[in-house]
Amino acid sequence: MGLIYSNLAVFLSYFQDNVVQYCVLIKHSIHGDNYPIDNYFESNTMKLLHIDSSILAGNSVSRALTHQIVEQWRASHPATSVDYLDLAVNAPSHLDTNSIGFRAPPQASALTPRQIEENAISEKLVSQFLAADVVVIGAPLYNFGIPTQLRAWIDRIAQPGRTFGYNDKGPFGLAGGKTVVIASSRGGVYSTSEGGRAMEHQESYLQTVLGFLGVTDVRFVRAEGVAMGEVAKSAALATAAVEIRALTQTAANQAQAQIAA
Ligand SMILES: Cc1cc2nc3c(=O)[nH]c(=O)nc-3n(C[C@H](O)[C@H](O)[C@H](O)COP(=O)(O)O)c2cc1C
Repeated sequence: MGLIYSNLAVFLSYFQDNVVQYCVLIKHSIHGDNYPIDNYFESNTMKLLHIDSSILAGNSVSRALTHQIVEQWRASHPATSVDYLDLAVNAPSHLDTNSIGFRAPPQASALTPRQIEENAISEKLVSQFLAADVVVIGAPLYNFGIPTQLRAWIDRIAQPGRTFGYNDKGPFGLAGGKTVVIASSRGGVYSTSEGGRAMEHQESYLQTVLGFLGVTDVRFVRAEGVAMGEVAKSAALATAAVEIRALTQTAANQAQAQIAA
């Protein structure tokens, strides 16, 4: 009997995770569209990109949060594949004359071997970002901003023609349709006062730059005040755990967009 219930639970959880795709399939069959079944199963797998950037290794708060987020996301959405990027271990170099190649004007002279190498790194990072349906980013607050490693990654993926563009009305994003979950960790407390919010350039910066790239579904999990004693740290982690449970059960942006179509 127990086995029947556990199988039923697995089936229901799988069905809940994929209900949007089932709706799409039904919609296409009603409207008589030629909807290839292979594409249906391919689109059924969600790609999650897990990024850490804390330099505090095993003592990191944001790493503990991203770990929980990814685990719970996979539990709620079993058909998820995960790609991992640890920027503290393997960060791209800061943008310089060798790595700015993807922004070089068409009339620029031939790229040097080093520039070609750096372009390949940028291309790999931007394609990995664009391919992801969900991106979970561990983003500590260091000196009122994000770690330089995370900033170096953003500099590589903010590419004209790939993740944003300009027309006569201004800039537009090209990386829409994905969900980004930010695991924010902070020594002090910034969210509860106007002065605090004005001082932090971590969550506000990430919201701005992701919005510029066209990401409309940015979700924050925050553990702040973690340097203000053990009681404050425990309370911050407990608050974050509640936020994680809530947000990992909500469908990703792309799926919501599909059902609305
Ligand atoms: C280099 C460095 C700079 C920091 N700067 C700030 C800061 O500006 N404001 C703050 O509230 N906490 C600051 N902290 C505390 C961190 O935000 C806190 O330790 C947080 O847990 C970092 O995330 P992590 O544990 O995932 O690395 C700093 C910590 C480090 C290591």
